[in-house]
Amino acid sequence: MSKLPVTDSSFFLSQHLMANSASTTRKGIVLAGGYGTRLYPSTVATTKQLLPIYDKPLIYYPLSVLLYAGVREILVICMPETLASFRLLLGNGSRFGVSIQYETQDQPRGLAEAFLIGKEFIGNDQVVLILGDNIFFGQGLGIKLDVALSSSTGATVFTYPVCDPSAFGVISFDEHGNPDAIEEKPESPKSKYALTGLYFFDNDVIQFASEVEPSIRGELEITDLIRKYMERGDLVVETFGRGFSWFDTGTHESMLQASTFVEAIQKRQGLMIACLEEIALRKGFISADKLASQIPSHKNDYTDYLRELVLGQSP
Ligand code: TTP
Repeated sequence: MSKLPVTDSSFFLSQHLMANSASTTRKGIVLAGGYGTRLYPSTVATTKQLLPIYDKPLIYYPLSVLLYAGVREILVICMPETLASFRLLLGNGSRFGVSIQYETQDQPRGLAEAFLIGKEFIGNDQVVLILGDNIFFGQGLGIKLDVALSSSTGATVFTYPVCDPSAFGVISFDEHGNPDAIEEKPESPKSKYALTGLYFFDNDVIQFASEVEPSIRGELEITDLIRKYMERGDLVVETFGRGFSWFDTGTHESMLQASTFVEAIQKRQGLMIACLEEIALRKGFISADKLASQIPSHKNDYTDYLRELVLGQSP
């Protein structure tokens, strides 16, 4: 891999916006439970979010979004039997200059349950939820995150146009472009805009989550929760455009596509996607010395990249 540029313009802009954004704390939750049945038998002895996407575990990708957004207090929610593996992989987060705590969800009772499980962790703060199997990549992500972070009330969700909206939560808009309906996996979708697995909420989300009733499929649906914000007139919907890539990696096919994508971009640019140490370094969460001290001595593309990163940061 080639030497890294020290930074880029979107990073600077993102720093600038962060400095000007509201001073409220934003906690982050990565929801990394679920059975991963579509990946059977690959998920019998482990969990989807620990499987690799090209050269790193899947959970690195959503975690990288939280770090990139400057969120440093993070809760990982996972199935009880996978807790030890997540702890082994991520520890308490100090390697990345953040705090990572863990809670378990013993059954996949729905995305909205994250806010009940994470109630104490969230406390009186705002929260970002990201699904443990979602990958976001593209220019402009930092700006969109900063805009969402700077809003101190309501909810912000992100949509992405897809060919098969009925596989997703779908959001549709009135003639003024305001959201007017949110449906979970509709048979006849009213739009092609799928809800991605990245959601920003104010603290009312805890109360709203406690009011959500299980759906016909027995889950506490995040779409029901988002609808409450919409009805209150407090929902911002951001759309990722065609220059942006979003992967929802639930099947072997989508995991392979995501892996191929990451490989292609990384080989072309010589820059890694979702290298947590790199983001931590660029954000100032860890120093180059700290990074240097924690690079394993064995060689592979990842550790070589970390070594280059340390060299690139030296005077
Ligand atoms: P899904 O892809 O809907 O579910 P899954 O991962 O269990 O896969 P499958 O349908 O093949 O059985 O979940 C999306 C993400 O949210 C994924 O990272 C798992 C996570 N999740 C939870 O952690 N808890 C839940 O209650 C649900 C519904 C999902």
